[in-house]
Amino acid sequence: MKRVSTLIALVAVWGVALEAVAAVPLAFEGQRLFASYCQLCHGTTGTGAGPLAEKMGITPADLTTTLRSRSDTILKKIITGQGRQTITGRDRHNLISEAMPEWKDVFNDHQVEALIAYLRFLSTSKHKLMGDPVVGNELYQQYCAVCHGEEGGGDGVMTKLMNIHPADHSNPNEMNELSNNQLVNIVRRGKGRYMPAWKDILSRDEIEALVSYIRLLGN
Ligand code: HEC
Ligand code: HEC
Repeated sequence: MKRVSTLIALVAVWGVALEAVAAVPLAFEGQRLFASYCQLCHGTTGTGAGPLAEKMGITPADLTTTLRSRSDTILKKIITGQGRQTITGRDRHNLISEAMPEWKDVFNDHQVEALIAYLRFLSTSKHKLMGDPVVGNELYQQYCAVCHGEEGGGDGVMTKLMNIHPADHSNPNEMNELSNNQLVNIVRRGKGRYMPAWKDILSRDEIEALVSYIRLLGN
């Protein structure tokens, strides 16, 4: 009997885990990889002031400005090291110190794509992450997805039940219009007839984490 219930519990947990994996936005996954592998040298915001860079006496360029002119193909070559030597023309300019490791044996293609999505966020977003997006993801799935949808598309189950129309949180053009503070205030105080106020349920830190997660949904 015990074994059967353990099995059922396992299947249930597995089902939830699969769903969670499917809903993870690329830039969100990239942010986690960047935090573990890249910010040592490139710094938390990509500007190059990481603790290992200081230790090694190297000065990685400011990713928030250098990446704009680089294509995904070039970025992939830079990150993996595979084909770096074939980079020519304008893209060779300032390329590439030996101190940038070759990551080809560390990441699969999907992870490299996720890293690039996060680098794009770092170099294009007008707004910085203000809280921990990992915490934000959990809270979003728990409290917000029912209306805003698991991936923020504005298509949660309640939207049909109640005929309500939240914005598409995965559309960076729409979300970039709002500053971090404006987003925090909407979540704290609510908006219109159907967006509830969360200030008595969630802490300031939790709301900032949610806003950071919303920022990554669009990338
Ligand atoms: C040991 C330090 C170190 C680590 C760790 C590191 N980098 Fe670098 N990276 C450098 C240095 C040094 C450069 C060359 C200087 C520069 O930024 O142009 C560089 C350059 C780059 C560039 C090219 C910048 C440009 O456009 O000129 C990209 C993109 C990049 N790194 C991404 C990453 C990613 C993604 C990770 C994590 C998977 C990472 N780096 C981890 C040191 C590091
Ligand atoms: C009962 C459904 C519902 C829930 C639950 C809900 N929202 Fe909303 N939310 C809405 C609706 C509807 C709007 C649009 C309000 C308007 O523009 O009048 C909205 C608007 C917003 C906006 C402004 C941008 C937009 O989508 O129009 C943000 C940001 C937001 N919600 C975040 C959250 C967060 C974070 C949570 C979870 C803590 C959450 N919401 C939970 C229904 C909901």
